[in-house]
Amino acid sequence: MKFAWNKIKKPVFILGPMSDITTLPLMKICKYFGADIIFSSMVSSHAVVHENQKTFKIIEFTKKERPVIVQLFGSSSEDMIKAIKIIEKKIKPDGFDINLGCPAPKIVKNMCGSAFLKDYNKAFEFVKKIRENYNGQLSVKTRLGVNKFDVLPLLKKFEEIGIDAITIHGRTVNQKYIGKSDWKSIHEIADQLKIPVILNGDIVDQKTAHLELKKSNIKGVMVSRMAMQKPWVFKEFKIKKDYYPSNKELVKIIKLHMKYYLMYNKNKAFIEMRKFLGSYLKGFNHAKELRKMAVSINNQNDFNNLLKKINHEYLSQK
Ligand SMILES: Cc1cc2nc3c(=O)[nH]c(=O)nc-3n(C[C@H](O)[C@H](O)[C@H](O)COP(=O)(O)O)c2cc1C
Repeated sequence: MKFAWNKIKKPVFILGPMSDITTLPLMKICKYFGADIIFSSMVSSHAVVHENQKTFKIIEFTKKERPVIVQLFGSSSEDMIKAIKIIEKKIKPDGFDINLGCPAPKIVKNMCGSAFLKDYNKAFEFVKKIRENYNGQLSVKTRLGVNKFDVLPLLKKFEEIGIDAITIHGRTVNQKYIGKSDWKSIHEIADQLKIPVILNGDIVDQKTAHLELKKSNIKGVMVSRMAMQKPWVFKEFKIKKDYYPSNKELVKIIKLHMKYYLMYNKNKAFIEMRKFLGSYLKGFNHAKELRKMAVSINNQNDFNNLLKKINHEYLSQK
């Protein structure tokens, strides 16, 4: 069935976009644990228009990960429209998301991401032009405002022009990652819009997620950082119980994730995998030594040695 935001059933649990992290291996692992929708890492519309091959690699996915929403950032609506057409033709994602929230200096300097929140008229015109030129599922991910919660009128205008869904990271741009995500303001937004609103920021467990889902019209939650540390958070959402993989299952997850990396990017697989091993190994008692090994794995041999050590120290004892 074709994906449409207005057909999704509450609650949906979404893997959020993380540059260099939400690529095919993590998409697959989170899908395995039950993620309902996947957002790709953001990619530059300018890079897409210039057919940058590395950029296409970042948003690669297979039909098993669907629905997949490709997130784009840019400063020119013309580039965004062209990029959507190019990606549509190549990989036909289930929708596109416009990044209007990234506060990273290199993005803002180029008048992309959260730079648009400094001028709501400009943000509106930008999104409107894209909407007028693309009929598919089009969503926006943003923050509460630049230094206070004042984004709601803009979001209402987005709804009027046919934007299909909104994800809100409940912080202002100036907050970057300081403080707590303000879920209350997200609920206020959700209760004033008819289109799906997705709550994002600081969701780390199933209990909080389900509690927040009861508070308003929000359609779902998006999880980014915690999905990197414990992708089984999606399983927890579904079973509505905390979940602690056994050492044996952790090894299975580590092997699977490594396999996906080797399939995706053989050259960088071991180095990329280091990003995940640290938190996967947290689950083992006295994990310090294992984590020391994990931060320097470079090849299959290093990886096998790590597994041997785990096997020797933790699995053979049972
Ligand atoms: C390493 C990293 C990369 C990120 N990259 C993106 C991105 O490409 N696009 C985006 O909209 N948000 C990006 N974010 C923001 C997250 O998707 C999310 O909005 C934020 O981390 C709050 O949610 P969380 O508490 O569940 O992580 C990134 C966050 C991190 C930590």
